[in-house]
Amino acid sequence: MNILGIETSCDETAASVVKDGRVILSNIVATSLTHHKRYGGVIPEIASRKQLEFIHSVVDQALTSAKTAWRSIRAVAVTRSPGLIGSLLVGTSYADALGFALKKPVIDVDHIKAHLYAAFLRPNGPRPYPPRPQLPAIGLIVSGGHSSLYDIENFHRFRLLGRTRDDAAGEAFDKVARILNLGYPGGPVIDRLAKQTRPDTQIRFSPARLPGTYDFSFSGTKTAVLYHHQQHHHDTNYQIEQVAAGFQDSVISILVEKSIRACLSRHRHTLVLGGGVAANSALRQKLTDAARQEGIRVYCPPLNLCMDNAAMIAGYGYHLLKNERN
Ligand code: KG4
Ligand code: ZN
Repeated sequence: MNILGIETSCDETAASVVKDGRVILSNIVATSLTHHKRYGGVIPEIASRKQLEFIHSVVDQALTSAKTAWRSIRAVAVTRSPGLIGSLLVGTSYADALGFALKKPVIDVDHIKAHLYAAFLRPNGPRPYPPRPQLPAIGLIVSGGHSSLYDIENFHRFRLLGRTRDDAAGEAFDKVARILNLGYPGGPVIDRLAKQTRPDTQIRFSPARLPGTYDFSFSGTKTAVLYHHQQHHHDTNYQIEQVAAGFQDSVISILVEKSIRACLSRHRHTLVLGGGVAANSALRQKLTDAARQEGIRVYCPPLNLCMDNAAMIAGYGYHLLKNERN
């Protein structure tokens, strides 16, 4: 069963066709990122205008590259929330219009849960296929807008264990990159700079522990970086790589610690990662290493599926549709 997915919650305009909730037949993403760069963050008005411009051809390309005709699309899945309101409106209006005109069901998808679905997808290529995670699992979603831990019993039962009380992890990367004049988005550049320094030389920033909870807080670390930068950036031996590495380590260490603790206390042997920050190489490595020691398997989506995309929307939408029909 083929589902067309549409995603327009932030700066991407994306469409994808996914077969049986698993096989990605096409995955088209157009981004307006270059138009936002000089402002240091996504400007909602620009994002939605670009989405209006892109949506038709992106959907068209998704069908063409999947070699699929409209008649073999069973339903349209669309990100209904959360996201930028003007941007969401472009995708949802388009999906609703398609559903009405083609007499196909329109499935409303939650963007955050869909991020955790990315690890369940596979490309349409030859074997070997990536292994598919087994549920129940703990899900860690770390993106530009959200940082949350879920206990996923099945695709219809997500229990929120904890979330950020202030900045999302990706937002903290972006804000710290801004403080350090590294441009937008901050995650990839901090990831790269952190690799250029030895662990013993990095500046230490202790994370907020929020004991007894699975909640996160990153804004204190961000402010600590700001003060450190203000006080030391004229020092002759000041190295931005050491600051970037220390900040990254602080964020990652608490994400790893709480994710593993959630697995152990809920007796889950599977940990699924999702969201833009899931592309972070140090997070992927440290989470996998820490989990291995506890007998937990970590599933990280490939890098292109960590970022916003419509394959995760179509894939997750398949399970929502199936549930509706049962
Ligand atoms: O999931 P996403 O594409 O959009 C949202 O739904 O928010 O995530 C974008 C976020 C940005 O904050 C970006 O800085 C961060 O993901 N990001 C990274 C990396 N690549 C992207 N953060 C850390 N390390 C990376 N390699
Ligand atoms: Zn996202």
